Amino acid sequence: MEIRFPASIEWQGGVPGHLRLLDQTRLPHEEVYLECRTVSSLEKAVRELSVRGAPAIGVAAGYGAVLAAQEALDRPGPAFLQEVRALLDRLGRARPTAVNLTWALERARRVLEEKAAAPPREIAAALLEEARGIHREDRAVCRAMGEAGAALLPRKARVLTHCNTGFLATGGEGTALAVVYRAAAAGKEIRVFADETRPLWQGARLTAWELQRAGIPVTLLCDGAAGSLLASGGVDAVLVGADRIARNGDFANKIGTYPLAVLANRHGVPFYVVAPLSTFDPSLPGGKEIPVEQRSPAEILTPRGIQVAPEDVDAWNPAFDVTPAELVTAVVTEKGVLSSPCEEGIAALLGDGAGKRGEN
Ligand code: MRU
Repeated sequence: MEIRFPASIEWQGGVPGHLRLLDQTRLPHEEVYLECRTVSSLEKAVRELSVRGAPAIGVAAGYGAVLAAQEALDRPGPAFLQEVRALLDRLGRARPTAVNLTWALERARRVLEEKAAAPPREIAAALLEEARGIHREDRAVCRAMGEAGAALLPRKARVLTHCNTGFLATGGEGTALAVVYRAAAAGKEIRVFADETRPLWQGARLTAWELQRAGIPVTLLCDGAAGSLLASGGVDAVLVGADRIARNGDFANKIGTYPLAVLANRHGVPFYVVAPLSTFDPSLPGGKEIPVEQRSPAEILTPRGIQVAPEDVDAWNPAFDVTPAELVTAVVTEKGVLSSPCEEGIAALLGDGAGKRGEN
């Protein structure tokens, strides 16, 4: 089964060219595209979650490096390199938790430094090739994770998920949702329970939209209803993505993931994390070191412009939480499934090369 979705991230043209993004803040009501021609417009799109989800942010950042080179094209040699480096640093600060952003920019930096002596236009073309490579790889990685994860589900499965982890969140068909898509393609009977995912409703706005389009039965629930659903025996597996996984398997994901893991553990329901190797951060020994993005209280107090709380009340709005590895049944990657405890498996998968990446 091939599920066809509009391309949510697409580079248009060559060098020069621009990045076309499906504006996720406007879904599900409107399918509107943004055209990013500068690093600052992409930085804004990332900060405002027009493009979001760890792998999608990484793919977009790869193309962002091309935008950086294009912006600096008129500068003579050393000034060109200096400007591109500064723009990459700036893009890297757009969101702190999803390590795929740093990972993709590191790949771009490596190309930039390797090609430093070449004419700027040639460097821009090499960055575009790298970005297209990141995008292509992500599609293949999503498919591989989907297939590995699908094998874990029973023939008839009720899956609970959080946030959005599908086409919109990656350069391919997703992380946790790729498992759903591949299981359905393999003829399994899947029903998804999607947490609405406060405060920005990625579950209600994006996951419900995606699954409905894909023809997969989906039931939306308030985040706070997940406990009752799990207690009732209505869930066979919990599937989530990740924004950053530390060496010991602790991981950050959308706020509300940690309570789901506790509840799944309490009720004996398998809890699977589905994430590509680009989401692992070998520089961090454990979850305590993962930087957690704090977002504006306005997202809670005035969602979509509607004042739902008394004016000037205080609000706490971390965008992610950290789940300890001990609550995870298995981590599904493009290289296979790591059953808990997965610290050794992670070390073996990441190997020395990845370790060196983390030391940079
Ligand atoms: O703030 P968001 O919408 O970018 O958060 C996304 C998530 O938490 C996803 O679950 C995560 O990136 C992994 S799956 C693509």
